Amino acid sequence: PLVEPFDLVIFGGTGDLAVRKLLPALFHRFLDGQIPASSRIIGIAREALDDDGYRALLRQALVGICDAAKLDVFLQQVGYRSLDARKDDGWADFAALIKSQPEHVRVFYLSTSPDLFVDICGRLGEHGLNQGKSRVVLEKPIGRDLDSANRINDAVGRVFNESQTFRIDHYLGKETVQNLLVLRFGNALFEPLWNAGHIDHVQITVAETVGVGHRAGYYDHAGALRDMVQNHMLQLLCMVAMEPPSSLEPDAVRDEKLKVLNSLKVIDDSNVNQLTVRGQYRAGVAEGASVPGYPDELGDTKSNTETFVALKAEIGNWRWAGVPFYLRTGKRLPSRVSEIVVAFKPVPHSIFSADSGTLAQNRLVLRLQPDEGVKLWLTIKHPGPGGLRLRNVPLDMSFAEAFGVQQPDAYERLLLDVVRGNPTLFMRRDEVEAAWRWAGPVLAGWANSSESPRPYAAGTWGPSAAVALIERDGRTWHDESE
Ligand code: BG6
Repeated sequence: PLVEPFDLVIFGGTGDLAVRKLLPALFHRFLDGQIPASSRIIGIAREALDDDGYRALLRQALVGICDAAKLDVFLQQVGYRSLDARKDDGWADFAALIKSQPEHVRVFYLSTSPDLFVDICGRLGEHGLNQGKSRVVLEKPIGRDLDSANRINDAVGRVFNESQTFRIDHYLGKETVQNLLVLRFGNALFEPLWNAGHIDHVQITVAETVGVGHRAGYYDHAGALRDMVQNHMLQLLCMVAMEPPSSLEPDAVRDEKLKVLNSLKVIDDSNVNQLTVRGQYRAGVAEGASVPGYPDELGDTKSNTETFVALKAEIGNWRWAGVPFYLRTGKRLPSRVSEIVVAFKPVPHSIFSADSGTLAQNRLVLRLQPDEGVKLWLTIKHPGPGGLRLRNVPLDMSFAEAFGVQQPDAYERLLLDVVRGNPTLFMRRDEVEAAWRWAGPVLAGWANSSESPRPYAAGTWGPSAAVALIERDGRTWHDESE
């Protein structure tokens, strides 16, 4: 069903996320007829631009998506205001503009550095823009540790109540992540096996080929743990590990995720060097081209920021006791792959002779990108004569092949969920805090350690210590090219 007419205001409107992700997502929804005609999309930034200047900037980013005539119609719904959260100028006019449509749902999307969240919310409150059907969307990272996250959440909470606050983690909008809910709880097959009795371990990989490029300024203050693990990867881990919620009500799901976060075992000074590996890329070859190393891109050879992390997490509860969750993510890896691998325990006794081949583990692989899909690796008999030869083959379902449709981008669904006021796929305050409570001691452990991130050549799977981390336990990273 069509959403109510809305005004969507994007702070950081000229930034990378807005131009590369948010506006294209909105344009796709527009092309699908999902954006009511009176709705307005307003970009806000400090740059002195006018509506036409902003439209010209967006035109460059959107022109490939569809024919120019439709783009022109869409851009008529888009405007721009130049505002500085730290100065009064222009705010009263902006407030009047928003208030001119009192019936509209109002969404304020804060796609700026988190230092500005407090000021922006303060201004919105001062001008009464938190009234009516108003919602605020906070982009990650929410702070850089538990204290700063608390400060932001407190300040935002003085203006918007929790039900108006949408903390976005775009990984939750990805098709395969939602499918995980359906696979787990819509099939009778998996849940009885979904525990330490039958699962050997879980792997979550989010590999990117890109480097940090022009985001080095932001990235150097974050690093892979804050940028990817504290949010996206822990959310994936929660979706795999949570108990069945009693319904899909937002709080029923979020209560279960919170319990997982609270059950993560502590990684701190005492074990950080055994359970985690940090890496930083150096010059190498990525996707066929020579690329510089991180220190060169940053212009600082002393940075200790990690662009790769692999770690072994454990969940201290009855379902998962003793089942490691191996997580790895990094920039400038050999391919862009994100997947969750659930590896089952071996059969208790083999009836096959050694010359039949080795029995491989059953693995359920949920591919988030590229080519979203699900694979279940099974052992079968190699067809034909020649005795019982064992083969490990996947039951393979690519969503694109099976359904012939391109999957919508995660932001398309999440933006409209905000307009609808549905927070199921957004993080509640206590989840963000629990994730920082776990990440804090890891970061402190690294800060107190004499070790630095290990260099790895761009275009490789990170430092060799990441391989050793899992091989020490007699396991290997899932690799389908083998
Ligand atoms: C963002 C991170 O949240 O997610 C980026 O800040 C990262 O560093 C991006 O590149 C990855 O998202 P996706 O959807 O391309 O996997």
